[in-house]
Amino acid sequence: MSELASTPAPVPAHIPPELYWDHSLAEFNNQLDDPFIAASRLLEGPPLFWAREAVHGRSGWVIARHALLQEAFMDWQHFSSEGGMDLTLMMGVDWNLNPVNIDPPKHTGYRKVLLPMFTPKSVNHMEAAVRETCDMLIAKVAESAENGRGTCDFVSEFAMPFPTYIFLSLMGMPIDMAGQFFQWEQDLLHGTSMEGRVIAARSILAYLEGHLAQQKIAPATPLMEAIMGAEIDGKKLNDGEVLGMFYTFYVGGLDTVYATISWSMRYIATRPQFQQFLRDNPDKLNKAVDELLRMFAVVSTQRRVTQDMTWNGVEMKKDDLVVMPIFIACRDADAYPNPHEADLERKTQMLSFATGPHLCLGMHLARREIRIAIETFLARFANIRIPEGHHYTYHAGPTFNVDSLPLTWD
Ligand code: HEM
Repeated sequence: MSELASTPAPVPAHIPPELYWDHSLAEFNNQLDDPFIAASRLLEGPPLFWAREAVHGRSGWVIARHALLQEAFMDWQHFSSEGGMDLTLMMGVDWNLNPVNIDPPKHTGYRKVLLPMFTPKSVNHMEAAVRETCDMLIAKVAESAENGRGTCDFVSEFAMPFPTYIFLSLMGMPIDMAGQFFQWEQDLLHGTSMEGRVIAARSILAYLEGHLAQQKIAPATPLMEAIMGAEIDGKKLNDGEVLGMFYTFYVGGLDTVYATISWSMRYIATRPQFQQFLRDNPDKLNKAVDELLRMFAVVSTQRRVTQDMTWNGVEMKKDDLVVMPIFIACRDADAYPNPHEADLERKTQMLSFATGPHLCLGMHLARREIRIAIETFLARFANIRIPEGHHYTYHAGPTFNVDSLPLTWD
C-alpha cells in the first residue's frame, strides 16, 4: 500500500523549479462554479508541468495542451498504460485492467476479441434495448415530477441509472444490482478516503469473480460468449485476463456516460436557443453530441514513462507518472477556437475518447446512449431549465461528475 500513501513524495531532482506546481489538481479544478473553466486556466501556464498532487495524492506530470496530449496518446512506446495504476494496486492483484492497461502488441489480441461487439453495426442491434431503458426511466421521471413536485433530479433519476442498466444488460447481471453498483462506483471513483476506495475496489472484484464463475458454466450475453469463448494464440483467456475486461467495462462504461449526459443536459438547460435549435434540427443531433462530448470531456487518464528521455524539451525519468486530463485539451483554443461554446461547424476531431491504440472501444455505444437520451428528453419536455433558486452540484476528481441537477419544464 505504500505506493498509495496520500502524503506527496518530495520533489524529484529532475524537476526544474519553473515546472513545479505546488497544488492539488483536484482542488484547483473545484475552485469555480464550472470545473471545465477552472481546469482550462492551466492552458495559460506551461504545456507540461509537475504537480504536487496530480491524482489521488500522487505527484506527477500533467499534460496541459491538446497537441501534446494527442502525441502522448499515440506514443505508447514512451507512455505506457501498464503498471503502477491506482486500481490494480488497490485490489492487490497481479493482472491489469484489460485491454485499457495493457500495451501493444499484447493489447491488440485482447482488443480484437472485444471489437466486434462494439462496432456501429453491433450498436444498431442494441438500440432498441437502449431506447426502451431510456423511455422507461423518462416515464418515471415524468410521473414523479408531474405528481406534484414539478422538478426532477436529472442525475439520480436518469443519468446514473441509464448507463448502469445498459451495462448490466451487456454483462448479463441482475438489474437489482444497480443500486449497489452506484454505491461502489461513488466510493471507488469519488471517495475521499483511501480505505473506502480500497473496500469498494475489492467488493467490486469479489462480485465480478462470482459473475465469472457463472459465465464459465453458461455465458449470459453475446459479450460474455465472445469473452469466454475467445482464444489468443490457441489459448483461452485466464481468470485475470477476463476479470481485467469485466473491470474495464465497469470503470469505463458507467461513470463516463452518466457524467457526460449530465453536463450536456446542464448546458442544454441553460441555453434555451441551443435547446430549441436541437429540437428543430434533429439532423444536427449527432454533431451536437460530439460537440457536447468535446466540451464536457470528463476523463483524465494516466500513463507511466518507460525510459529516461527528453520530451518536448522536458527531462522525464523512467516510471514518472503522467496525468492526461482530456478536459484541458478539449478546451484548448489552439485546437478549438471559442472552446467554451458548442460550434456545430467544427472540423477538428474531438479527443474525448482518446486516440491511438486505446481509443475508446465503447465510443459508438456511448454516442448512441447520449443521443437517445437528449433526443428523447427534448421530444418529451418543453423549455427544460434549472428551476429558479435551485443550483447544480458537482465534484471534479479524475472524472468530472455532476452530483445533482434539478430540472423543470413546461
Ligand atoms: C462518454 C462516455 C465515454 C468516454 C468519455 C470514454 C472515454 C474513454 C477514454 C478516454 C479511453 C482511453 C483510456 C486510456 O487510454 O487510458 C477509453 C477506453 C475504453 N473505453 Fe471508453 N469512454 C466512454 C464510454 C465507454 C463505454 C460505454 C464503454 C463500454 C461499454 C467503454 C469502454 C472502453 C474500453 C473497453 C476502453 C479500453 C480500450 C482499449 O484499451 O483498447 N467506454 N474510454
